[in-house]
Amino acid sequence: MAARYKLAPSILSADFARLGEEVARVEKYADLLHIDAMDGHFVPPITIGPVVVKALRAVTSLPLECHLMVTDPLGQTAQFAEAGATSVVAHIEATPDPEPVIERARSLGLGVGISLNPPTPLDAILPFLERVDVLNVMTVNPGWAGQRFIPEMLPKIEAARAEIDRRGLDVAIAVDGGIDLDTGRDALDAGATVLGAASAIFSRPDPAEAARALKELLSEREANA
Ligand code: DX5
Ligand code: ZN
Repeated sequence: MAARYKLAPSILSADFARLGEEVARVEKYADLLHIDAMDGHFVPPITIGPVVVKALRAVTSLPLECHLMVTDPLGQTAQFAEAGATSVVAHIEATPDPEPVIERARSLGLGVGISLNPPTPLDAILPFLERVDVLNVMTVNPGWAGQRFIPEMLPKIEAARAEIDRRGLDVAIAVDGGIDLDTGRDALDAGATVLGAASAIFSRPDPAEAARALKELLSEREANA
């Protein structure tokens, strides 16, 4: 059976001049790679696009989850699919009706997730919960790695967990932003199942050890599930 609890290293804090090596260092502890695509409109920075996804696809067999912090996820999903993405995660703030993105992603054979920013209430995504694989709860404001986890998001995670369980859905809850061993534990306690982490892995002196420790936390939860 596929693991319920997953580690998603986010390459945003990796050394982009040595991206393949960076991925190789954490690969054995990772369940997927989280790739933060930012377009300079939805958020101020411009980061990674399909060309980098294509390069990664050639060097790892890990699933590639593309977090689309872009204003036009519908228009861009096909490019990410073509580059070798495994799934796309679109923001409810960019696409208040995400059905067309969900349909396009499915028609291209991709997994699909929906993400919400800290100020956005959970209610905004509830109508679409049945249709997605992952709910990505932002625990920082999107745009940059290395920010502090916002603890006020914990009740949102708890509410999402309660609703997913009430409906009997198999939707993963990912947390994204400021996740380390401490905040990761809090997020898991609140009901998250996927930990995304950039700086807590790639900004550490030993990224492999950092990934191993996070994975161990997840494996403990898996064993007790
Ligand atoms: C933020 C991104 C996150 C980011 C997390 O906009 O969506 O995925 O990489 O970085 P850390 O783990 O450093 O907070
Ligand atoms: Zn992200």
